[in-house]
Amino acid sequence: MKFIMKNLFFKALNIEETDKLMIRRFAKTTGIPIERLSYYNRFNIIPSGKDLLQICDAAGITEIELFLKMGVIDSRILSLIKENADQISQIIQKTDIEKDEFPAIPPLVRNTNCGKLYQGDCLDLMQHMDDDCVDLIFADPPFNLNKLYPSNIDDNLKSEEYLRWCKQWLDKCIRILKPGGSLFIWNLPKWNTYLSEYLNHRLTFRHWISVDIKYTLPIKGRLYPSHYSLIYYCKGEKPNTFHPDRLPMDICPHCVGDLKDYGGYKNKMNPDGINLTDVWFDIPPVRHKKYKKRNGSNELSIKLIDRIIEMASDEGDLVFDPFGGSGTTYAVAEIKKRKWIGIEIGPVDGIIDRLDNIGDDAEYLAKIRKEINCLITNRDLKRRIDRGWWTPDSVRKENIKFKKVAK
Ligand SMILES: C[S@@+](CC[C@H](N)C(=O)[O-])C[C@H]1O[C@@H](n2cnc3c(N)ncnc32)[C@H](O)[C@@H]1O
Repeated sequence: MKFIMKNLFFKALNIEETDKLMIRRFAKTTGIPIERLSYYNRFNIIPSGKDLLQICDAAGITEIELFLKMGVIDSRILSLIKENADQISQIIQKTDIEKDEFPAIPPLVRNTNCGKLYQGDCLDLMQHMDDDCVDLIFADPPFNLNKLYPSNIDDNLKSEEYLRWCKQWLDKCIRILKPGGSLFIWNLPKWNTYLSEYLNHRLTFRHWISVDIKYTLPIKGRLYPSHYSLIYYCKGEKPNTFHPDRLPMDICPHCVGDLKDYGGYKNKMNPDGINLTDVWFDIPPVRHKKYKKRNGSNELSIKLIDRIIEMASDEGDLVFDPFGGSGTTYAVAEIKKRKWIGIEIGPVDGIIDRLDNIGDDAEYLAKIRKEINCLITNRDLKRRIDRGWWTPDSVRKENIKFKKVAK
């Protein structure tokens, strides 16, 4: 049995979404403008205050019935569910909902030293994967922004349908994730608020990472959207692996001087770099022709994937990404000697080509890694010495001198 979650608000009120006359009449009876009723319907928002009373009154239903029909569970309903769990579970068993079908395994299209690439639907592939087998999952699903993908998937679903689909693949990801394994979801903040709420009941929240990238033009009446959200969860209390990279301190690109004061504690700063925070400013959008592996705007930066793989996996661990795209995760996993499983529902030639020419990505990755895990990069170090700025070495020597004088 499949639930189609569309127009739940109007459905709860027994109103056809296309029946303009009925909607107009309902608006008149309740005194609520049509635009506001449509807003409740479009975004599946529960009305509140006077609207709620008037709507329930006019439709002849109780508040609880409206909540349930719209699929929203508040604390009162939750307590009732808990109290009546026996009866409710019996009803659920009888209705036989959500029995997973067992689809055929999607075709394997590429085998590499470390990984396996499949072509097909990730839901089907995950159905064939064992419980608790993956160390790290990174997922960058379509954002439901009505984009045209080479796979021609429908990227313009109703919000409820999109979220329902996300919860389907998340359930499977959670099942195949090892205890102590990590899950990262890359999405717009709007969608990740819902996915976080879902995951908070199933995994342990680690971080909401904001990645500073501008992705649209400014929108009238809104703040300028300038970050993607990367949510990070682990299965069980603690992740098995956690070694975040450290970053160089901020330096003026012109005079190579300090951009921040760091509280005047130069001598306490770790020469291996600054602690990674949950706001990432240094992830570039992929624009460079040499590093852009396919047309369209969905390819992620190698730097982003490298940071995640480094933080939450070790060599030999198994990495899974259900949404292949241009294969960024698979390329980085291959270079970093992680085992990996990948799948893409659309064309896979781009991914295969990328894996066959892994040298390009390896070269770029080596460049990226040279510039982290140090307080000042080698390139800037020389320039700072020339201009008489402090360096970790000069601070250390000064400290030793000071201690000698203090004696
Ligand atoms: C946002 S892109 C991923 C981009 C990727 N992270 C990269 O760096 O290239 C999402 C991809 O998921 C694919 N996709 C959508 N639904 C899928 C499904 N059910 N199974 C597998 N792939 C799917 C789309 O065709 C698209 O290429």
